[in-house]
Amino acid sequence: MIPQWIALCATCFVFGVCVRRRYFSSVSDIPGPFLASFSKLWQLYHVWDGHTEAATLKAHEKYGKFVRISHREVSVSDPEAIKALLVAPLRKATWYQIFNLPDRRYVNQMGELDPKRHIQKQRNVASGYAFSNVIQAEPYIDALVGKLEAQFDAYTKAGKEINFDHWFNFFGFDVVGEVTFSRAFGFIEQGKDIGGAVANTQFLALYIAVIGHYYWLHDILLANPLINYFNLAPSNHIFDTALAAVDARKRNPDARKDMIEQWLQTRRTHPDRMEEKELLAGAVVNVGAGADTISTTLQSFFYHLLRNPEAMAKVRAEIDASARMGELSDVPSYAETQKLPYFQACIKETYRHFPPVAFGLPRVAPKEGVTIAGRHFAEGTILSVNSHVIHKNKEIFGQDADKFNPDRWLDQERWRAMDKYFMTFGAGYNQCPGRHLAHLEVSKVTATLLRDFDIEQVNPGQSWTFKAKFTAVPYGWPCRVKRRS
Ligand code: HEM
Repeated sequence: MIPQWIALCATCFVFGVCVRRRYFSSVSDIPGPFLASFSKLWQLYHVWDGHTEAATLKAHEKYGKFVRISHREVSVSDPEAIKALLVAPLRKATWYQIFNLPDRRYVNQMGELDPKRHIQKQRNVASGYAFSNVIQAEPYIDALVGKLEAQFDAYTKAGKEINFDHWFNFFGFDVVGEVTFSRAFGFIEQGKDIGGAVANTQFLALYIAVIGHYYWLHDILLANPLINYFNLAPSNHIFDTALAAVDARKRNPDARKDMIEQWLQTRRTHPDRMEEKELLAGAVVNVGAGADTISTTLQSFFYHLLRNPEAMAKVRAEIDASARMGELSDVPSYAETQKLPYFQACIKETYRHFPPVAFGLPRVAPKEGVTIAGRHFAEGTILSVNSHVIHKNKEIFGQDADKFNPDRWLDQERWRAMDKYFMTFGAGYNQCPGRHLAHLEVSKVTATLLRDFDIEQVNPGQSWTFKAKFTAVPYGWPCRVKRRS
């Protein structure tokens, strides 16, 4: 039993902290939800609820361009924020450290907070992500698309429903395997979640989103040496998968000039600049970052086209016309898909309308502070900008910014104007290096499936729901597919 005086002192202490946070902070004047004025509970609740993006958007509609989303963090909806926070090389908030899997010994570029060191790490691995490198893997991605189609055929024949959440994750993982290690993991071939990788990543996503806010807890939980020793943590799964793949690759006589080879080349040329463990760290972050983002994008693409029959008819007509002219290979090449303007507009609109990363990208105001839209923020303030919020800005994207409408991307001049504020892949020195690979795989698999299959939702009224909280990975809308004649 806790003595009453201890309970009283603890209550007074907590109350005092809350009062100080709410009324005596440099951002006390910024409006926001009550819970957020003295804690991180508002953020955590919406992470748990799975709709951080919708909640942040709603909060901006209610409170304006600055919203206090925790006692230390302000979300900014002014488009100026992209330049001021992301393009300017500001330090990332400590939340990002959680990406250093399995623990702080393996600092990858995502988990590196310091801009200088981050830029160095990024330079070390950049050649692997360059478009000129990832395009070399195109024939292997083609083979994976072929296998995906064969599995869809088998499911159709067996009268089974298809869960896009699983299959598109399998596809994302296998592509990461091909491009990084010269070997797919075999998810599509085996048609199952090998070793529970998808389930693990989704649990880990939630863990990251929550525990990232309390990094000290991570050392007790998943980064705890005992948990690591007994290999109990889901983060170990990603780490072990990457470790095994790097190991197998070293013994693979058919290894190509894949990402690992590019990184080895950098290390051979600049041994002083790049440590051996950066290779593994890069592989780990690819396994962690390159599957559910792709799955979300692919699901979102088909979901929104199914909900917009006019757009579906238009994109189909464009693809069918191109196929009739003999301009599409069995699996359309990346170059072929770039010649389909409406199809590309559909992909761009998918990226814009529902970016897979649901949370704001947090940065820390430097010594001299940051000024955005006339408001100065003192050193140490955490400021974030959320792509869901920016992408719904009517002044930039039009009065129908909250609707899925690929037509907005058809005019080149308008495309360029909107593109300045497009941030699905982030912006600035932390921008997603996997974006070329992502666009390559998304273009190929969507063009192939649209051309070859009719897709229908088993329950057409079923709405978009979410399971993995952090990336808002959709689930639970099983489909049936049928070969088009
Ligand atoms: C449609 C798919 C994808 C989307 C929407 C996406 C989006 C993003 C975003 C928003 C960031 C964070 C930027 C920030 O924190 O400021 C990021 C980082 C990253 N992504 Fe992606 N990504 C996708 C696919 C991929 C793929 C396929 C890979 C690699 C195989 C990849 C590798 C990375 C890496 C390594 C980082 C860390 C970058 C850094 O901190 O410098 N991503 N991505």
